[in-house]
Amino acid sequence: MSLVVFPFKTEKPEVVVNNIDTAASHERVSEVLCVGVEEEQTYAAIAAAAPHVTAETGTPVNLILQDRIGSLRPGKGDGMNTALLYFLEKSDAARIHFYDSDITSFNQSWITKAEEFADLGYDVVRHYFPRAATDAMITWFITRVGFAVLWPRSELPWIEQPLGGELLMTREVAADLLADEAVRAQSDWGVDTLYTFRMIQNGAKMFETYVKEGKAHKLYGRLTDLRTMLVECFAAIQSLENETVDGTTLHRVQPPDVVPSAISEKLGYDIEASMSLLTERWTPRQEELAGFFPVPIRDGLLANLQRPRFGFLDESAWFDTYLVLLSEFDKDDPDWQELIFKLWIIRVLNYTTTAAARGYAYGMRYLRSMVERYLRQAALAK
Ligand code: DGY
Repeated sequence: MSLVVFPFKTEKPEVVVNNIDTAASHERVSEVLCVGVEEEQTYAAIAAAAPHVTAETGTPVNLILQDRIGSLRPGKGDGMNTALLYFLEKSDAARIHFYDSDITSFNQSWITKAEEFADLGYDVVRHYFPRAATDAMITWFITRVGFAVLWPRSELPWIEQPLGGELLMTREVAADLLADEAVRAQSDWGVDTLYTFRMIQNGAKMFETYVKEGKAHKLYGRLTDLRTMLVECFAAIQSLENETVDGTTLHRVQPPDVVPSAISEKLGYDIEASMSLLTERWTPRQEELAGFFPVPIRDGLLANLQRPRFGFLDESAWFDTYLVLLSEFDKDDPDWQELIFKLWIIRVLNYTTTAAARGYAYGMRYLRSMVERYLRQAALAK
């Protein structure tokens, strides 16, 4: 039997309660655990609904607050690690599932699919979803690029959605993760990177299932909404830079299926609002730090003091930029935080206007082949 976990912050209570009910009614689920950040209105709504769901379904629904386990910004990582600790110490379920609590397209087949592939012997089952060609911009330009550049011979760059929060793991995998000091320390958005990395490094057998209805949830506006996530996801990759991963892990991916037009026609972010960020918040120190990059990149970057410029940061320039960031970026330095944010927006705008602008199919083909080109280039250099 399995424990299903919904980490949450402030969400629409009716969406979360509906998802709890869906999970609690599933025949493979022996308990539902909701992990909140503080006792606010969503917490109160779940507390009020939980006894009814338990009475109707016969499945206990428990509600806890996340512990302070890590040492970075208290965030998603503390929530997920709190759930792993609960799973190992307070539950006798064989498997744990995580699902974002705000998904309006969640249904029982998500749990069934994960269980079926775990029954086949996989230690980890991850769901992946169709996403708009201009969505998942941290996944593509930070995480998958980083995995390709640093571990080109491993399975890491081939993982569809390494930052995805919908996954199943066995007790053994959970115990390995929680025994790891770096995983426990990663209390922020970097936790997904750490989990994915360690799973592959520890040799967990991984299956990725395709969920064609996609993950319907809140959308982003200006890319500012993703600034903290970007900084923390890059810092997580950087913290792993000196680790080695062998190339023998078993990792299979279910092929993608139809992509609903609501997803293929969606814009992932507000282009104009994001462009305007490029000329804002410059400091003399950022201008100085720009000097770490090769001259054409430095000059292109500094041109943004006057007006938005992004034509210079193409695929090959991003490879060079990424290498400089790996060696120079300081996650605790506000000027570096702002500079990586600007560089990433520039790269995202460059890709949007040269590849995504040619349509969904072209954009996705471009992103996949870009990761392949990077890993070949990195493998040649190693
Ligand atoms: C990503 O890049 O995957 C983040 O979820 C933002 O879209």
